[in-house]
Amino acid sequence: MLRVTWAVLSGFVVESIIFGLSVLPGALFWTWHFNWTFGNAYVRIVVLSMAFMPAYLLFCIALMVLSALAMRLMGWRTPDAAEMRIDDLDWPLLRWVRYTVSIHLVRLFAGTVLRATPLWSWYHRLNGAKVGRDVWINTISLMDHNLLEFGDHVVIGSDAHASGHLVEGGVVKTARIHFGNYVTVGLKSVIGIGVTIGDQTQVGALSVVPKHRALEPRSVYGGVPAHKIERVEPESPLGAGGIHPGGGGPR
Ligand SMILES: CC(C)(COP(=O)(O)OP(=O)(O)OC[C@H]1O[C@@H](n2cnc3c(N)ncnc32)[C@H](O)[C@@H]1OP(=O)(O)O)[C@@H](O)C(=O)NCCC(=O)NCCS
Repeated sequence: MLRVTWAVLSGFVVESIIFGLSVLPGALFWTWHFNWTFGNAYVRIVVLSMAFMPAYLLFCIALMVLSALAMRLMGWRTPDAAEMRIDDLDWPLLRWVRYTVSIHLVRLFAGTVLRATPLWSWYHRLNGAKVGRDVWINTISLMDHNLLEFGDHVVIGSDAHASGHLVEGGVVKTARIHFGNYVTVGLKSVIGIGVTIGDQTQVGALSVVPKHRALEPRSVYGGVPAHKIERVEPESPLGAGGIHPGGGGPR
């Protein structure tokens, strides 16, 4: 019980400090505008409203940086290849809970506005993920960042879900997820724990890739559960020199 009380208190205190410090730059920026003198009340309203957007952006950036640094400092991470019984409430589980809470707060306040931008990929890297070049993450549903690995030129579609943990029968199970180079994950897809997606492979929209599956490179997968989609080019009515699949006419 003492362990849980300590975990809850420490999590609360750390998140409060992160949040308080993150608000500071944006608040200072906005207050600076507040102290300007305006001849006209309407101009004052417009300027103060305009100052809100950059102030919020400053808050988001500070929140991402401070949250990621605090998680590094505290060593709160998702353990790899672990099985943690929820009933045991042991230290690895409590560290995972606090890491998850921090990710949840950042995705709520910053992710909703910054997803699909380079800043969002940068936060995942800062928070423990291995992120290659040119990675676009258009979702706020990636969890357990320290168990995620992205190659170069990866696109994670809108609202796709991938986390390094799942709960089965009261046990939290964890494993790494690897996205190869030039991988695209379709919108609203679910990627299970321990999944490896080979280079240049696409996962179709609304698909579910079950846990621990290895998807072959240069392939297309789709469906629930995801299966390999064999793509057969339509036979040309004009024979060997016929219609190009792209619709470009005789070649
Ligand atoms: C899976 C996908 C890549 C296939 O595209 P494609 O190679 O052009 O294939 P086609 O559209 O010709 O479809 C080929 C077959 O796959 C099936 N298929 C297509 N998308 C599917 C999906 N999401 N799940 C299951 N099956 C799918 C088709 O029904 C078709 O089956 P059939 O041959 O039995 O008729 C594409 O449909 C898709 O879902 N892309 C995701 C785009 C996306 O979300 N990007 C990220 C955010 S913008």
